[in-house]
Amino acid sequence: MSLFRTKSVERALDTGPHSLKRALSATDLTLLGIGAVIGTGIFVLTGIAAATKAGPAITLSFIVAGLASIFTALAYAELASTVPISGSAYTYSYVTLGEFIAWIIGWDLILEYGVASAVVAIGWSGYFNHVLEAIGLTLPAFLTKAPHEGGWINLPAFLAILFMSTVLAIGVKQSSRFNNVVVFIKLAVIALFILVAFRHADTSLWHPYVPFGWTGVMSGAALIFFAYIGFDAVSTAAEEARNPQRDLPIGIIASLLICTLIYILVSGLLTALVPYPQLNVSYPVAFALARMGEHLVASTIAVGAIAGLTSVLLVLLYGQSRIFFAMSRDGLLPPAFSAVHPRFMTPTRVILATGFLVSLVAGFLPIHEVAELVNIGTLSAFILVSISVLVLRRTHPDLPRPFKTPLMPWTPLLAIAFCAYLIASLSAFTLMSFVVWTAIGLLVYFGYARRHSHLAAGVSGSPAR
Ligand code: ALA
Repeated sequence: MSLFRTKSVERALDTGPHSLKRALSATDLTLLGIGAVIGTGIFVLTGIAAATKAGPAITLSFIVAGLASIFTALAYAELASTVPISGSAYTYSYVTLGEFIAWIIGWDLILEYGVASAVVAIGWSGYFNHVLEAIGLTLPAFLTKAPHEGGWINLPAFLAILFMSTVLAIGVKQSSRFNNVVVFIKLAVIALFILVAFRHADTSLWHPYVPFGWTGVMSGAALIFFAYIGFDAVSTAAEEARNPQRDLPIGIIASLLICTLIYILVSGLLTALVPYPQLNVSYPVAFALARMGEHLVASTIAVGAIAGLTSVLLVLLYGQSRIFFAMSRDGLLPPAFSAVHPRFMTPTRVILATGFLVSLVAGFLPIHEVAELVNIGTLSAFILVSISVLVLRRTHPDLPRPFKTPLMPWTPLLAIAFCAYLIASLSAFTLMSFVVWTAIGLLVYFGYARRHSHLAAGVSGSPAR
């Protein structure tokens, strides 16, 4: 078994002929993380969570979910610097826990990135329609709603994903430049919100601070955990980083710390602008400022939110395609998913195929109802990553680790405890749906992946690649 694991570590580090272009710096990676992280969670879900779950204590919910993410991020950073190849948590668990667990985690990550992209695209569409209406260009209702909502298709959500997939397929450096510009706009409008909101904040609205008790704080945390999803996408870019050992940990930790600080400030100010029960709207950040009479600032923020959601889409779709890429390279998915385009140097086919599937989900499915599924998939992946860091320290104590998780073994143990607590705070429907998703994954594994796995081929004596 230990030889098996050693071989898989070597195999993981030798990416062979399917290699990607190394174009991303530490700053690019940090911006990639911020691009993925700040989005629907803060622009849309904060209001809902404050109004229906946590009240002004939504700030505490952000701290709890942030702690779960930071403990996990420290484990991610060690694994990303030790096993710097494409695939994220999927790859780390492949190397440390073997193929079966890796399959489960890869399957969870498909849920994380695929469903999250669709949820974000629908949120994007909401803001987009809002801005179009403001300038007098209202789309017909049947083109803005999915069939279950009484329309034909959510066309803006559908097209947003197709457009973003094309940008990604053209090339990572071009996409990364595009991402950097968009992230800058997003941070600028958030700074504008913070500055203007400070002038109007009324802290008497923070009383009562915890109207729904600790259970409310926790179920709020389980919902707004969505706001932190995406920092792990930085680690999926390992093969495109110029200096992955140094830059991946920087990218992961810096982006997460910046986002946590922003969330605490924004959610605290939001609940000091408007009484929390009124925040249950689809554009709470702009809404709160409009209520203060700051209409121009509110409109500017709505446009910035569209930019913010665009960059989230870009990174989530990027992560999704790279996970498919890694799983295909290991033989668990068909080989067409790992073919790199000779001119663009990106896995063009998988990007476009993924984009098409996700655009169908965003355009036609009742995705809101399964949004919590994204959180459970991600939290499960985080738990497995934290276990991986503990296992790898034991099985490969001498591997070079340019970044080491501090306070071992407490950091990964705390990550596991926090993530498990958040899972327990999700609804019974979400837990059941996740069981069904996992069962489908097992069927695909035993029906296809296990028989086509390169690892299995290597064990029986055939060349691995
Ligand atoms: N964290 C991302 C968002 O909030 C997925 O939109």
